[in-house]
Amino acid sequence: MTSLPEPLSARDTESIAYHTIKDRLPVILSKIADTVYRLKNTIREQHGEEGAKELKDIVGGVSKLRNELQTDKPILPLEDDRADVTTWNKYLEEQTSLIGYPPSWFKSAWLYVECYMYRRVQEAVEKCKILKSLDVFQEQKQKAFLNSQGAILILLNYSMKIVKDLENEEELDVEKLFQQFTQVALWGNKCDLSISAGFENSQTGCPLDQVETLKDHILINDLKPLWTYLRASAPGRVDIILDNAGFELVTDLCLAEILLSTKLASSIHFHVKALPWFVSDVTKEDFDWTLQTLGRSNSIAMNFIFQRWKGRLSNKSWNLQVHDYWTLPFDFSEMKMRCSDLHKELSKSSLLFFKGDLNYRKLVGDRNWDTTTPFAESLRGFHPAPLCTLRALKADVQTGLAEGQAKAVREKDAEWMVNGNWAVISFCDRTVQ
Ligand code: F6P
Ligand code: MG
Repeated sequence: MTSLPEPLSARDTESIAYHTIKDRLPVILSKIADTVYRLKNTIREQHGEEGAKELKDIVGGVSKLRNELQTDKPILPLEDDRADVTTWNKYLEEQTSLIGYPPSWFKSAWLYVECYMYRRVQEAVEKCKILKSLDVFQEQKQKAFLNSQGAILILLNYSMKIVKDLENEEELDVEKLFQQFTQVALWGNKCDLSISAGFENSQTGCPLDQVETLKDHILINDLKPLWTYLRASAPGRVDIILDNAGFELVTDLCLAEILLSTKLASSIHFHVKALPWFVSDVTKEDFDWTLQTLGRSNSIAMNFIFQRWKGRLSNKSWNLQVHDYWTLPFDFSEMKMRCSDLHKELSKSSLLFFKGDLNYRKLVGDRNWDTTTPFAESLRGFHPAPLCTLRALKADVQTGLAEGQAKAVREKDAEWMVNGNWAVISFCDRTVQ
């Protein structure tokens, strides 16, 4: 292979990396400090002065971090006692010797420093005793779910009907259902909270109508080859590497339900983050909270679906997996070398769905690719199993487009790479080294 394109970074002051690091990340950090500070009375009531002191330390840690970022200070080693600290600090050493000086916010790979920011927020929490399990994004994630309830209800009512029809052996067009639910899960990815710097970005329109209206906004649509592959390999294990909590998670769970109910899959493995990540990413706690919230509702559809999904977790047709690799700075081409156990685990699957923008950036190494580079080539050998990315574009990295396609879409929408209004379904069933 010819030499790889450069990783995206904030060195280019016209880039999205630059604007994200300069404008958006400081806002996210300020919002964290505000949210945590607002908890002070509750924490004091629950845990006394010791809890209040820890809360103050978290706010202090986050404010210090914001200052380091804004003044382009060198990246510091982590100092808490989480098991991943050695890996992060070793990576900092690797990066330092690679570039010949300590990496800093505006002069290193965007993927690295953005991931590092979320891990440093966690450091402030990890250093606590009482508040060690605080999720600084919990309130935002739960609000986003509650504000999307109308759309969630429409989707769950529809899913319940399909599930019942399938149980009654009604003749349904399974290919059509597969396509529809995959696209609902695709567009669910519009709703992440890091793109809106943590401010409300919930789903309010009808998710099923959206599938029709947004069809022309899918720049790469591999649903046909994906369907052909899935039908031929069915029913096998399908893995979903999840992205955001809230509406997006519900769309992913509905896709999983339809894959099982139509016997396109025999089991689903969900992969969640081990710590609060990129504002809205799903942790195990978010996953459990989502199901419990459906169970507590007085809607028939929500209760029906809750019972069904609770059953799926207990009969193991649904499995939840947590791995630190998803919250490390590495891209996925490094997985086999850096984390063979996860790579081996993924290779047991017959299909991997990677949800969202960050997973896409990690799939293609967050590099300055020519947009016409074949998707399979941009994966740089990462192929534990056939895989498909369901991603709304939020960062200026894209591969697999046809000649002239980028120019044509830019003419229609100058913000096409970052506003989440354009998407790709890219499927890859082979390794390219
Ligand atoms: O646009 C800001 C950003 O943090 C990107 O850096 C990141 O890729 C994206 O948001 C997260 O989006 P998603 O939730 O789809 O992975
Ligand atoms: Mg996300």
